[in-house]
Amino acid sequence: MQSVIKSSTLARARAFRTAQNVGGGVRSFASSARRSQAVPTEKPVLMKEFKIYRWNPDEPAKKPTLQSYTIDLNQTGPMILDALIKIKNEIDPTLTFRRSCREGICGSCAMNIDGQNTLACLCRTDRNVGKDAKVYPLPHMYIVKDLVPDLTLFYKQYKSIQPYLQNDNPPASGEFLQSQEERKKLDGLYECILCACCSTSCPSYWWNQDEYLGPATLMQAYRWIADSRDSYGAERKEKLQNEMSMYRCHTIFNCSRTCPKGLNPAAAIAKIKLELAAE
Ligand code: SF4
Ligand code: SF4
Ligand code: FES
Repeated sequence: MQSVIKSSTLARARAFRTAQNVGGGVRSFASSARRSQAVPTEKPVLMKEFKIYRWNPDEPAKKPTLQSYTIDLNQTGPMILDALIKIKNEIDPTLTFRRSCREGICGSCAMNIDGQNTLACLCRTDRNVGKDAKVYPLPHMYIVKDLVPDLTLFYKQYKSIQPYLQNDNPPASGEFLQSQEERKKLDGLYECILCACCSTSCPSYWWNQDEYLGPATLMQAYRWIADSRDSYGAERKEKLQNEMSMYRCHTIFNCSRTCPKGLNPAAAIAKIKLELAAE
């Protein structure tokens, strides 16, 4: 009996010493509770002005305006799209823009930010609050409302190049096969998300978009010309062999400079031109 009492007393004493050694003092429930309630330090207020293009089709006589909104950058996410969503949610629900994936995949948030066509969800807000952020829709397009351009013609042009695999002699069974080299030719082409940033930065497209297909659509045309599984390359090139569809490209590279996915539509157009010249 005595030995039982002795060993439990020893165990308590050891536990007390251990508690004293951790952190150099006696732990108490009260002090750890205080620590868990510690309030995080608040970030300072960082107000930045956003000037955003507004136009309402329900008031067609009213000219477009730049409307100013000021928000705290420390109370919103880091991207321009985060700021737009905050403005729409908390200040002005009438502000209209497209977005879906918020990670550079759907292409729907393409707009002109501080003079550059890009994706709002991939564009970091400049934290220099001395400089306002200017947000416009993609340039030289008809506008549906505010930051939403009408992409009807853009998609019609894309449809015109028949953006799907065509082959009259499919394999008897199984899938179309490609060598690694053949597959590699599609790198830098298939990643296009059809955001239209490139086409709407192209001066030739601004002035001739009724007939000139523009860099996005032409790069997609080349994506199918370059695909070893497609047997309609000759027909595809033949359709581009006219004065307007492709030869309005003057290789100024605005398109490649602006692509938010880092693609090079001007190079793809140059490759089509080379292939046509070699025939
Ligand atoms: S090439 Fe780039 S800029 Fe042009 S549509 Fe594709 S992803 Fe957008
Ligand atoms: S390289 Fe061609 S497609 Fe690209 S911006 Fe210049 S003219 Fe337009
Ligand atoms: S929201 Fe999809 S690309 Fe920006």
